[in-house]
Amino acid sequence: MAHDPYKMLAEPFSLKDYVVVITGAGGAIGAATAHVLAAAGAKVVVSDLSLETAKQAADNVRAWTGQDTLAVRTDVTSESDQKALVDATLERFGKVNALINNVGWGEYTPLWDVSMEYMVKSYILNTVSAYSMTKHFLPHLKEQENASVTFSGSAVGTTPSPEFISYSNAKAALLHMSRSIAALAGPHLRSNSIVIGSVDNGEATLKAGYDQAMLKRLADSFVMKRRGTPYDIAYAFNFLISPAASWITGLQMTVDGGGSYKSKMPTDD
Ligand SMILES: NC(=O)c1ccc[n+]([C@@H]2O[C@H](COP(=O)([O-])OP(=O)(O)OC[C@H]3O[C@@H](n4cnc5c(N)ncnc54)[C@H](O)[C@@H]3O)[C@@H](O)[C@H]2O)c1
Repeated sequence: MAHDPYKMLAEPFSLKDYVVVITGAGGAIGAATAHVLAAAGAKVVVSDLSLETAKQAADNVRAWTGQDTLAVRTDVTSESDQKALVDATLERFGKVNALINNVGWGEYTPLWDVSMEYMVKSYILNTVSAYSMTKHFLPHLKEQENASVTFSGSAVGTTPSPEFISYSNAKAALLHMSRSIAALAGPHLRSNSIVIGSVDNGEATLKAGYDQAMLKRLADSFVMKRRGTPYDIAYAFNFLISPAASWITGLQMTVDGGGSYKSKMPTDD
């Protein structure tokens, strides 16, 4: 019997008939992910704190792929907004197959200059909101085959990063939480995270305390000698959500251009 190469390889990566919700989808990585997932066949709910950027990203995705999209204004730190996002998704598309908890933010803060309030605020934005969002989507995700939640982790959550103490602690907790969810919510829900290295997101990284010279030094220190593009991360999300990854849960997938593989015997160059 002849084999069908499409069924064998391309189909497992297809997101045809999937409905995917992405938070922070007006930003660099979220918007690129919305484009890639829609290109793979998904209907994407583009949610962001800014309705204007959410609408812009959703319009671009629709124009580029022809897929149906929905833009929703959501502050992920508000539980009523989280519930409203669930309702809006179900009202428009009738189901949800995958949730990407992508919102996150951190900036340079000298180690001993951080207040308790700031630490807690960072934890709520980067970690607690993702927990609560997942909790509210869970009953609906569980109704679908190959349902998943995927988190935008960070390389600063896997290596000591005293310059980003509040953000890095919160991202470390996020990775741990993703594995805990994998252990408890399976087999009905897969839970994975991407450990993201430095990705070009325009102004946002500059606002976080970097300058161009620092970014060049950072890029030069990576094995791949460049910072990532948002699409480098978007393709990883596509894989983790797709049927091709249906036996993968509890994974921390590092996508960082080899940033974590610096030589232990450094030379001058
Ligand atoms: N860019 C990088 O180098 C990098 C590295 C490691 C991890 N990450 C992580 O990847 C994710 C996406 O990063 P990015 O580079 O695309 O950032 P970005 O700043 O370009 O986009 C973030 C988006 O989140 C939205 N947002 C902020 N607060 C929100 C809130 N309370 N509710 C809803 N939306 C909110 C913003 O409006 C923005 O559109 C984040 O979790 C970030 O921590 C990024």
